Amino acid sequence: MKVLVLGGDGFCGWPTSLHLSDIGHDVTIVDNLSRREIDLELEVESLTPIRPIGERIRVWKELTGNEIDYVHLDLAREYDRLEALLRETQPDAIVHFGEQRAAPYSMRNATAKRYTVDNNVTGTHNVLCAIVQSGLDIALVHLGTMGVYGYGWSGSAPIPEGYLTVKVPTPDGDIEREILHPANPGSVYHLTKTLDQLLFAFYCANDQVRVTDLHQGIVWGTQTPQTALDERLINRFDYDGDYGTVLNRFLMQAAIGHPLTVHGTGGQTRAFIHIRDTVRCIQIALENPPERGDKPKVFNQVTETHRVRELAELISKITGAEIANLPNPRREAAENELNVSREHFLELGLNPTRLSEGLLEESRDVAVKYRDRADTTKIIARSVWRQGMETSPDLVKPQ
Ligand SMILES: NC(=O)c1ccc[n+]([C@@H]2O[C@H](COP(=O)([O-])OP(=O)(O)OC[C@H]3O[C@@H](n4cnc5c(N)ncnc54)[C@H](O)[C@@H]3O)[C@@H](O)[C@H]2O)c1
Repeated sequence: MKVLVLGGDGFCGWPTSLHLSDIGHDVTIVDNLSRREIDLELEVESLTPIRPIGERIRVWKELTGNEIDYVHLDLAREYDRLEALLRETQPDAIVHFGEQRAAPYSMRNATAKRYTVDNNVTGTHNVLCAIVQSGLDIALVHLGTMGVYGYGWSGSAPIPEGYLTVKVPTPDGDIEREILHPANPGSVYHLTKTLDQLLFAFYCANDQVRVTDLHQGIVWGTQTPQTALDERLINRFDYDGDYGTVLNRFLMQAAIGHPLTVHGTGGQTRAFIHIRDTVRCIQIALENPPERGDKPKVFNQVTETHRVRELAELISKITGAEIANLPNPRREAAENELNVSREHFLELGLNPTRLSEGLLEESRDVAVKYRDRADTTKIIARSVWRQGMETSPDLVKPQ
């Protein structure tokens, strides 16, 4: 299959590109390297020494003989080039990772909020529009987030995979309808993912575009079998207050002897998936596209849920790290339940990687190996959801 991987230089996109190439697909990465530019803006680097995209691709070819093409293109700003690229490469499928993906970054200031909306919503719309204009039947797999549902909206009822069956009262009695699950975004970033959902619903209904939207949980881990082949293929490991995700941050903090930074009570329950399962899920989604005329197919791409404080306690038990509670910069309930339906991927053969299965140690080893690259001044989250909620770095004292 010929596959374009949009955002293929990123944390999820790079290992997915290698996995798809490894199983025989013809992969072209499309990326404007904006994530690397944001690192420069934030004056932070991946904990792991990621190599330039050209070198990554060269090394992959050296080691496996497989070619991956790369096109530097901004999805949000270079529509004509995008449409031309589809006509020229005629892909069977597109995997779309190419968005600004950090909730804290999206709440940083007006510039970051506006950039996140402009980049993500326009980029996704451009992809859909280019698919229609190309006249090709290209299946689109998009990375959404569990955060579109919000947390705790329906109490302990399981969050369905995208759609909710509701009863609509009419003069002739109730009728049943299936609607998109109500959107309940908790940040500007999450807001863009809920707007993406409406774009998909429209283009599926109006133009019969085939779309699968993967509502992914928080990804943890770093390496896949392919990225682990050679240090020059290593995957990104974000640990800073904007882009670092909770479990990887804890592992890195433990590795450098920094207290584990829990926001609020740590009673937030979140959904998780290992990067190895992310790449498998993308493969499964590509192999099981919807039919033309179907509504967007929605899969919850999640393998388990945990409370943040339970994760901190687990890492503390393994590593002896202290736990520090910081004020929560987000506007959210202190505690929430999260019960997620995830039947689709299990039915299609996903064999989930669990937290307890040894990969925690593997991730910790990566964090320990590169701990000297860490900048401890970048660990504390600085973005706040409302004015006056600033977190104080003094609450945590690095050892
Ligand atoms: N990492 C997670 O825990 C997680 C969880 C849920 C959902 N997701 C979703 O998965 C996708 C990938 O996440 P990630 O962690 O790999 O993020 P990332 O920031 O590491 O990668 C995104 C890539 O997209 C590129 N990009 C961004 N805007 C672009 C544009 N306009 N044109 C071309 N390229 C562009 C960036 O340069 C980067 O390489 C995102 O859409 C994100 O919302 C990620």
